[in-house]
Amino acid sequence: MTTHGKVELSTDRHEWQPTPLAEQVVIITTADEDGTPHVAVKSRVSVVSYGPPAYVFFACNAEFATAEYVRRSKQFVVNVPSKELVAVSWVIGCDPSGRGVERFDENGLTRIPGLAVDVPRIAECRAHIECELVETHPFGPDLAVFGKVVSVSVDRDLAEGETALRYRRLAPFFFLDMDWTAPLGAARRVEEPVPGPRHDLTIMVTADLPRAQAFYQQAFDWPLVVDEDRYVELGLPGGRGLGLCTREAFRDYTGEKARKPVQDKLSGVELYLRCDDLERTLSGLVAAGARELSALAPRDWGEEAAYFADPDGNVIVAARPLRPTDR
Ligand SMILES: Cc1cc2nc3c(=O)[nH]c(=O)nc-3n(C[C@H](O)[C@H](O)[C@H](O)COP(=O)(O)O)c2cc1C
Repeated sequence: MTTHGKVELSTDRHEWQPTPLAEQVVIITTADEDGTPHVAVKSRVSVVSYGPPAYVFFACNAEFATAEYVRRSKQFVVNVPSKELVAVSWVIGCDPSGRGVERFDENGLTRIPGLAVDVPRIAECRAHIECELVETHPFGPDLAVFGKVVSVSVDRDLAEGETALRYRRLAPFFFLDMDWTAPLGAARRVEEPVPGPRHDLTIMVTADLPRAQAFYQQAFDWPLVVDEDRYVELGLPGGRGLGLCTREAFRDYTGEKARKPVQDKLSGVELYLRCDDLERTLSGLVAAGARELSALAPRDWGEEAAYFADPDGNVIVAARPLRPTDR
């Protein structure tokens, strides 16, 4: 029988790799019989109807606390975490089911009241879909929970500005399989299939290649992908590269000399690094001997950032978005 180039996978979702359907990770809040809020991570979730009113559903193991609480509270909130909450979401999601388990304080999550329901929202999440329970349906060991959307709210910086940027701030992420997850890629309009040239590689001139290479390799975990006498390249997460080249190599490529470095003056180049583990990045920079220019502080563009100089006077910024509670 011809395969048409296809291979059959199991019909058991547990064995799908790669999963053909990525599942967005959300944090559902419900409330127990005393009104005590409960938090649980779910990824089988989607829109059923656009409305108005819109309807959403999530699926939950029928034995889990959420299945019991949602039938009691008759309300729930679908909170959308951004990729900064991947680690926290995994901790909560891997916590065995249990009634009355406190998962807010333990995981650094803050309750804020719902706008239309008695169940709280989670401040650290970027968006919230508040729902009234409509009905539940059993499917094997699971329960499909359907809700009518009664309020939707997002962080203020998601409600304004350029659309692609707003998606970047929302930064949802998806459960794939086992312990695999992936963030949403760059958002763009369908009718703009060619998003312009990609910025894949930044090359900086250095007065001392071994010194610069040692600095960047000590400061970061970026692997060495090109190692030549006059040029080295480090592989950055996401497929970008950082190249370091000697003044001689630069002159050969461009046909002109690079500006002479001036003692104690910055080059004017800034590498702006968004860090999932900012503390680790800062200690890596300090250990590599980076010169601190400006200590970690909230900046008015909604991020906290620290400024350093590398041995050639290039500026390195280590930054991460401020949490909504810090803004
Ligand atoms: C990424 C991820 C996605 C999950 N998705 C679901 C889901 O869609 N439905 C579900 O019932 N459990 C899901 N879980 C498991 C529950 O979050 C976990 O077992 C939890 O302890 C059950 O919570 P509860 O008893 O408080 O409802 C997921 C876990 C992770 C880590």
